[in-house]
Amino acid sequence: MINWEDNAVNQSEKDNFLIDSMANKIEQNPDEIKDGLVRRVKVEDKRIINGGTDVNQLVPFKYKWAWEKYLSGCANHWMPQEINMSRDIALWKSSDGLSEDERRLVKRNLGFFVTADSLAANNIVLGTYRHITAPECRQYLLRQAFEEAIHTHAYQYIVESLGLDESEIFNAYHEIPSIRDKDEFLIPFIDTLTNPNFKTGTLDGDQQLLRSLIVFSCLMEGLFFYVGFVQILALGRQNKMTGSAEQYQYILRDESMHCNFGIDLVNTIKLENPDLWTKQFKEEVVSIFHEAVSLEYRYAEDTMPRGILGLNSSMFKTYLRFIANRRAQQIGLPELFDTEENPFPWMAEMVDLKKEKNFFETRVIDYQVGGALQWD
Ligand SMILES: [Fe+2]
Ligand SMILES: [Fe+2]
Repeated sequence: MINWEDNAVNQSEKDNFLIDSMANKIEQNPDEIKDGLVRRVKVEDKRIINGGTDVNQLVPFKYKWAWEKYLSGCANHWMPQEINMSRDIALWKSSDGLSEDERRLVKRNLGFFVTADSLAANNIVLGTYRHITAPECRQYLLRQAFEEAIHTHAYQYIVESLGLDESEIFNAYHEIPSIRDKDEFLIPFIDTLTNPNFKTGTLDGDQQLLRSLIVFSCLMEGLFFYVGFVQILALGRQNKMTGSAEQYQYILRDESMHCNFGIDLVNTIKLENPDLWTKQFKEEVVSIFHEAVSLEYRYAEDTMPRGILGLNSSMFKTYLRFIANRRAQQIGLPELFDTEENPFPWMAEMVDLKKEKNFFETRVIDYQVGGALQWD
């Protein structure tokens, strides 16, 4: 285990020793040695955006939160095929296993998720990654990108296991208005980062990047995913679609980490570039939050027009306001709505950052013995 304090001291001692020994040789080959010293990465020179240090040198570490999340992500590796789907298949095929409303909910739910994680992966690989100049953060983004591929695989695996109409589910993001509207809201923010002509380094460019990172972490991964997670986990809590629910539980844990990484990224960019966080910028972000909450509420109404599973759409209105308040506070904005209680406290057990560490430790042990996560 790395001791970060010792590491910083040792690195500084090493640097001093190196500079002394190099200085002795400068007389012999001055230009070559001076160039080498200039190229060596110093912690204090590293920046999340617009950094000038060599992105190929992972160390010396500066952003330890990013490296620790990378290690945690790797420790919690999982694959969709490891989860037994036989009970879900039997339930889906039986004529009286699920109500029509429950079937609609599952299909609408998958209709959003089967393409959402591809959008997330594209956003990382084709957009965010190249604008981030801290190699620790890039390392996490590489891990995150693979996790998004695993999530797309998991949703496809559920669709295949249940024998659903692939074309219907994978085209829902074109054909179902409540899903299409969410994606149309997201796509301009993704397009900003994936546009080959987009560059940071100006106030406008850096604010565009920050805005897209906030939308991606706080609203896509941090809000749009959560109605869907509640729905499938609520089915699982009633002993229905338990294999799918287990897949979603692993995805939820990954997404909770993605969201927290994105928030750490946003907050560190704010610290390093305080000029970006203007009054106008904050007002704009608040209005984007409000738009996202109303889109997600419409999706909740569309997926469950009548109350089922002890859930109804007005509970989701409360839940969305609760999450939006939390996300706003996490990036230093005031609460957007009157304080709301969480109507799904059992979800908080899984998504609360404070619980994350214990949750991971439990999962590692369970994973190694091939057992399933327990939840009630
Ligand atoms: Fe994902
Ligand atoms: Fe994600």
